[in-house]
Amino acid sequence: MEVSNAIESRRAIKEYDAEHRMTEAEIEKLMSQAMRAPTAWNIQNWRFVLVRDPEQRKKIRAAAWDQAQLTDASLLVVLTADLKAWEKDPVRYWRNTPQSVQDCILPAMAQFYRGNEQMQRDEGMRSCGMAAMTLMLAAQDMGYQSCPMDGFDFDEVGAHYQSARRSWHCDVRCYW
Ligand SMILES: Cc1cc2nc3c(=O)[nH]c(=O)nc-3n(C[C@H](O)[C@H](O)[C@H](O)COP(=O)(O)O)c2cc1C
Repeated sequence: MEVSNAIESRRAIKEYDAEHRMTEAEIEKLMSQAMRAPTAWNIQNWRFVLVRDPEQRKKIRAAAWDQAQLTDASLLVVLTADLKAWEKDPVRYWRNTPQSVQDCILPAMAQFYRGNEQMQRDEGMRSCGMAAMTLMLAAQDMGYQSCPMDGFDFDEVGAHYQSARRSWHCDVRCYW
């Protein structure tokens, strides 16, 4: 599909076939394309949480004014950001560049974010916005519809995510 066709045909869809199952290969393809989205300083600060446990999805739906997409769409991806990605072993983002480039970039990056909580948060929003659009257009190209959503209780959904992370058997998968 041409990019222009994907842009023009994408709509925020509310009703999904709850019986449809994406294959693992499709999910891998979709997420690997989403991770092509750019990030400032290449810090790749998005964190994609694939919520695949039906019980978790029911709870998230309850925290989202009972919107059916939360349980019925083939895939639920919660976009989160690591606000501290910039300071976590940052050399890994630039390890394929010459030492002279790293010596220049890494201190500049640290100076850019250190002590600036607003900038760290803004960067998370920027990265997630670009990733979300990439994700939706990639899905469109694969023949899937999508719906961006912020109509949910952020604190409550965040609490589910935290409890899922503590529970190793829960079917929540994170990409980063
Ligand atoms: C940040 C954001 C949050 C949204 N939240 C919801 C939502 O909670 N539920 C929903 O059905 N649609 C949601 N939408 C979809 C918008 O209503 C939709 O994109 C807009 O009406 C334009 O329609 P279109 O995307 O089909 O062109 C959201 C869109 C964005 C960008």
